[in-house]
Amino acid sequence: MEKDRKMMMFCLLLAAISSPVFTGEWNASVAKNLDALVTSCVVIPCSYTHAKDELPHSRLRGIWHRSTNQDQRIYHEDKTMILENFRGRTKLLGNLGQGNCSLEMIEIRDVDNGPFCFRVELVATGTETSKMDKFSFVDSCVNFTMTTEPPKPTLIPPKTAIQGHPYTITCLVRHTCSSHIPKLTWSRGTAEEITEVHREIHQGTWEAQSTLMFITEEKDNHTDITCTAEFFGGTTSTEKLTLHVKRKENHNHIIILAVVGIGTAVIFTGLCIFMMKKYFMMKK
Ligand SMILES: *[C@@H]1O[C@H](CO)[C@@H](O)[C@H](O)[C@H]1NC(C)=O
Repeated sequence: MEKDRKMMMFCLLLAAISSPVFTGEWNASVAKNLDALVTSCVVIPCSYTHAKDELPHSRLRGIWHRSTNQDQRIYHEDKTMILENFRGRTKLLGNLGQGNCSLEMIEIRDVDNGPFCFRVELVATGTETSKMDKFSFVDSCVNFTMTTEPPKPTLIPPKTAIQGHPYTITCLVRHTCSSHIPKLTWSRGTAEEITEVHREIHQGTWEAQSTLMFITEEKDNHTDITCTAEFFGGTTSTEKLTLHVKRKENHNHIIILAVVGIGTAVIFTGLCIFMMKKYFMMKK
């Protein structure tokens, strides 16, 4: 009985010590799943909060490691602490002091699938920082879905192309490397005819968009328009579309047809009347 009581007291004490660290005080949000294009790059969005007021950047240490082993670090401010095959490929983009722990990884290899987890530590300055201030958000890890083929851009053309009218076509491609946006290029068009938009679809997944607008001419009929996406690292993908330009509606031919039609009718009627008159006159 006495033993049980002691055990319970010990547990309560342990819970009391650890609770400020493990409940509520620290909070991190990391993208759960991201596509990763081999040879290209990925930016993992990551943010965290700490109940204590603004923490000085100099006292914080952000670490990214493999989920299986905290010592398998893929990012650390001290390069010698990083696994050799990740050295020089990872960079913290965010400001740790502002709760931003976003990580950039370049030259993605097909073995880089993770999961990778973020950990933040308060760097001890003398005695004030206890060991308990170190914390790892083991629940906040990211998984990569590796792709070796770059995604193809999507083309959104207007319903019809009419000669002499503006033609607006959009090219879209998704990516996960917001620090190096894929370049979208068209097979035709000048800078004034192209507008670009970049937006986040969901946490960490972005869409680059390019819109081309030009006036269609007769010579554009049966020509191809291509949009090429060049991803960081150099891989490219292309989508193509063939233009079918409708000729401008011309009312002249309708008028000519009508005039000819009416003219013919008048002549025929006149001829008929003339013939009938002659016929009756002969009968008399
Ligand atoms: C974190 O930093 C990255 C890189 O500078 C930036 O793109 C992103 O918007 C920041 N995130 C937040 C939540 O401020």
